[in-house]
Amino acid sequence: MLNLSMEGLTLVVQNHYGILIVAVLSIAITSLLLKAWGSTVDTTDEDGIPGRLGLPFFGETFSFFSASYSTKGCYDFVKQRRKQYGKWFKTRILGKTHVFVPSVEGAKTILANDFVHFNKSYVKSMADATGAMSVFSVPHKIHTRIRRLLSDPFSMSSLSKFAVKFDKMVCERLDKLEKSGKSFRVIDFSLKITFDAIVSMLMSVTENPLLEQIEKDCTDVSNSMLSIPLMIPGTRYYKGMKGREKLNETFGNMIARRRSGEEYFDDFLQTMVDRDSYPEDEKLDDQEIIDNLITLILAGQTTTASAMMWCVKFLSENKDALDKLREEQLQIVRNKAEGASLTLEDLTEKSYGFKVVKETLRMANVLIWLPRVAMDDCILDGKV
Ligand code: HEM
Repeated sequence: MLNLSMEGLTLVVQNHYGILIVAVLSIAITSLLLKAWGSTVDTTDEDGIPGRLGLPFFGETFSFFSASYSTKGCYDFVKQRRKQYGKWFKTRILGKTHVFVPSVEGAKTILANDFVHFNKSYVKSMADATGAMSVFSVPHKIHTRIRRLLSDPFSMSSLSKFAVKFDKMVCERLDKLEKSGKSFRVIDFSLKITFDAIVSMLMSVTENPLLEQIEKDCTDVSNSMLSIPLMIPGTRYYKGMKGREKLNETFGNMIARRRSGEEYFDDFLQTMVDRDSYPEDEKLDDQEIIDNLITLILAGQTTTASAMMWCVKFLSENKDALDKLREEQLQIVRNKAEGASLTLEDLTEKSYGFKVVKETLRMANVLIWLPRVAMDDCILDGKV
């Protein structure tokens, strides 16, 4: 029988201190893993929606990312789960439970609801990439003001000027490519031309090395939009946040030069800076301008470039549609003087072209993910 005095007992505990710590830690880790394992198995809770929530916080983030960043695309993640669970399923991505809503009616209810029952809710990496004052992240009340001020410069007259500029840009680049006789990847061409066009329209930057620097920083920020939000050197998130710091500085200096009158261009940024003397709710401060310049570039570039790429692919597979579209274009060209540019009015005449774009966007989902958070309990397609 073990019969120890108090001192003896203290001695035993001190001698086995390391063993005790390991034992306590082992128990804690084992119970944590058991708990996590419980949540990795398929579940259909009281909400009646099947799915797998996976490990705490991470859930199925890695499967979602690996599909999104592969040639299969994020829809492969959805397809696999639909095979397993049916059209409705739930999952956990970056700490948030996501329910995939499969019906047109359900999507309409969520998206056309004016932020009363459903609000925007982007994951942390996306919100950090675009910035706290971006239209993507700000609360509804501020959103209305920022959105109104941002859309003001996109008037018909500035779009009209830009249509001519963009036409010239496309013709020059395609001409150069044709003369070089080299093959090229459509996505590279469309990413470059949309980036150059947006940056020219927003802030009149058209020359290297500044253009290249902004492009590199924006690409880093764009790549960090879906990433694990931890500042670990070498990761997408880390590079994205460093890119944001540089863009903050570049755009901040640009704004300062415009304000001092050292620089003037007839562009989007100038219309923002020219509002300085307006009342508070009729202007944007520096951080609001910077975050929304970044947002406009990120929101505009990949969407437009992928739509262009898919359009080319679908047309190359559908000769009738391509011939019809070409004929509509040639008809416009025949009615114009030799070498004249395409105008905004010409574009409104391209009714078949408009349908081709709409059909492309219907067939190829260029915006993969539109998360919304339910503000209260809701019923969609009979599910609570
Ligand atoms: C084919 C091209 C495009 C498609 C399919 C597209 C699609 C969309 C969609 C579906 C949304 C709503 C996102 C949500 O509510 O969560 C959105 C928002 C937005 N888009 Fe686009 N977009 C395109 C091009 C552009 C371009 C060229 C720009 C700017 C240069 C732009 C700027 C924005 C901005 C700023 C928002 C946020 C609006 C807000 O929250 O009020 N987009 N876009």
